[in-house]
Amino acid sequence: MNKVQRVSSLRAAVQAARKDRKTVGFVPTMGNLHHGHLELVRAAQQRADFVVVSIYVNPTQFGANEDLANYPSTPDEDARLLAELGVDVLFLPEQTTMYPTELEKQTVVYVPNIGDLYCGKDRPEHFYGVTTVVSRLFNMVQPDVAVFGKKDYQQLAIIRCMTKDLAYPIQIVGVDTVRNEQGLALSSRNGYLTDEQVEAAATLQGTLQWLKKELSEFASVKSKKSLNVLESEAKLRLKAVGFKPQYITIARQSDLMPAKKGDRSLVVVAAAQLGKARLIDNLEIELTD
Ligand code: PAF
Repeated sequence: MNKVQRVSSLRAAVQAARKDRKTVGFVPTMGNLHHGHLELVRAAQQRADFVVVSIYVNPTQFGANEDLANYPSTPDEDARLLAELGVDVLFLPEQTTMYPTELEKQTVVYVPNIGDLYCGKDRPEHFYGVTTVVSRLFNMVQPDVAVFGKKDYQQLAIIRCMTKDLAYPIQIVGVDTVRNEQGLALSSRNGYLTDEQVEAAATLQGTLQWLKKELSEFASVKSKKSLNVLESEAKLRLKAVGFKPQYITIARQSDLMPAKKGDRSLVVVAAAQLGKARLIDNLEIELTD
């Protein structure tokens, strides 16, 4: 595996691969890799001949009260796992490479509407940071395919929107969430949970599964009121095991707007604080006759 820090070295490696008629896949990460990330890499390897993974903890997607300095970092282990998987290039850009100008003067990429909902409401700066860094990474790597986890469902939808709106010739692939045996979605943020909280944390996916069961009784959404009742009951279930729910919304898969009467392709999106960790999760639901 070729480890590079500079954009010129990254481009030279990608150009050499292209000369050999290889297609290029890309997986952006913030490091501290777990099985979920490794699935993203495998998905990229299935779709492209040459795979680049980046590790960069992006400061602009952290809020003022979020602990950027303590974000978990395991660089040696990450590099070992990626080399073992046969990744071609590990891109480790420095802060000055990703943000050569002062952060306040940096051009930002903003995806309206979908970026203002849910996590965008609770953490207004977060998605500006994600779309800005991902668009810079796309320009540096210039991949054919880029892979993201469905765990960050809203992020994936926003990146799809940005890719279309900015005419990036990149296929965006979403990969199913990897979970522990109890159903907790793997996340670097799970490291902030105590053993007891890890047990309770599985209730987040359990509650979404409960919502799915309740909704499956309907062939399609009956009324907004019926959804509100279910969302409130789901919040109570989370509170009962120590979560502070931020949002649980039954939305349309197509645009992530809250579901309306007659909708059948749904996704429940949720965020809730448990101890020091802010956990997010989601569940796709297809209502059938
Ligand atoms: O999903 C993540 O880990 C990050 O948001 C990403 C896409 C690497 C951008 O920093």
